[in-house]
Amino acid sequence: MKLLTVIGARPQFIKAATVSRALAAHHPDSHEILVHTGQHYDANMSDVFFEELDIPKPDHHLGIGGGSHGQNTGRMLEKLDALMVHEKPDWVLVYGDTDSTLAGALAAAKLHIPVAHIEAGLRSFNRRMPEEINRLLTDHVADLLFAPTQRALRNLQKEGIADSKIHVVGDVMYDAALFYKSLARKPAWFDALKVGDFALCTIHRAENTDDPDRMRGILAGLAESPLPVVLPLHPRTRKQLAQFHLSLPDTIRVVDPVGYLEMVWLESHCHLVVTDSGGVQKEAYFHGKYCVTLRDETEWVELVDVGVNTLVGAHENYIATAISQLDRSGFEIDRLYGQGDSALKISDCLLSQKQIPSGLS
Ligand code: UD1
Ligand code: UDP
Repeated sequence: MKLLTVIGARPQFIKAATVSRALAAHHPDSHEILVHTGQHYDANMSDVFFEELDIPKPDHHLGIGGGSHGQNTGRMLEKLDALMVHEKPDWVLVYGDTDSTLAGALAAAKLHIPVAHIEAGLRSFNRRMPEEINRLLTDHVADLLFAPTQRALRNLQKEGIADSKIHVVGDVMYDAALFYKSLARKPAWFDALKVGDFALCTIHRAENTDDPDRMRGILAGLAESPLPVVLPLHPRTRKQLAQFHLSLPDTIRVVDPVGYLEMVWLESHCHLVVTDSGGVQKEAYFHGKYCVTLRDETEWVELVDVGVNTLVGAHENYIATAISQLDRSGFEIDRLYGQGDSALKISDCLLSQKQIPSGLS
């Protein structure tokens, strides 16, 4: 079976690494073609993950990034269409909710190539988020939907998607967290800080970075943190801070984006996590850390339900209070996101599919 995987943004490299490894180990007869759209292109947003996570070099690199959502999606669609006609895959695999996800799903659906969506069924119910539009559309053109949780399954059922297409398999990011934990690496610059005594922060969500008032609120909240804050700064956020002439408080230790192995080390050695990232909210949980989420809603509602994730939006006072009140004791994690075998389940399910003629001959 020939599978064509479309990835392009940081979290997708991490997610796809787990499925690619399972395919290679358990289904050596499958043939995976890896396509990097180019959505993320800085070395520390892309190359580092291929090197550290042992992801094969992409078979195709489209070199499309840095534009608006519409520009990126449209240019990717055009190039992916030609590539899929050339490669004639049996399945196209897409991950998450980025512009690369939507472009891959749409290009395949229009060519009648079956689409598998990994991390299906997540909803924030906020259609102002570009990611919400990407996930809704991707789920509705997909032929196989791999949902990480029962909640995601219910979201899909409510939208009328047939049960027969949906498989609840757990979360591939949990697979990654378990697999790479023993390889975690302390960043060289860390020595001035104390293990267990810092807040790890990431900020990149458009609803925050594109709104100077929200960014002001977040920075003011972080400035009041009783703990030093470590902030690996996403390039989008760096650009927006400069554009709005906002400076970071001295108490924040700003570093460039780190590789996944350093990120895992920081997540497992911090006191708590402060983030607007989807993936980092879950990883905080995987590593037994409380999370203060800089958003008004989250797709990962089960974390809020079990009391390990607090939504604070971009309010200075809520952020400062949440950081200073969080319990230091940590917690044991439950199986909210499966058993760490999601990638294997996905690869088994894909390879058990009857080959559907794509219409490309
Ligand atoms: C994208 C995804 C978001 C995901 C995030 C992961 C969409 C709509 N958004 O957001 O869901 O959570 O990736 O990090 O697909 N930039 C660089 N260098 C890079 C990458 C980006 O300078 O390597 C800058 C560019 O100015 C670019 C901007 O960041 O225009 C935004 O990048 P883009 O990929 O469009 O969105 P993200 O905010 O990264
Ligand atoms: N990550 C990383 N280095 C960083 C920040 C994040 O390796 O400097 C990893 C993080 O551990 C997680 C993934 O990137 O696995 C999350 O990506 P991001 O926050 O960019 O996107 P989201 O999950 O919100 O889509």
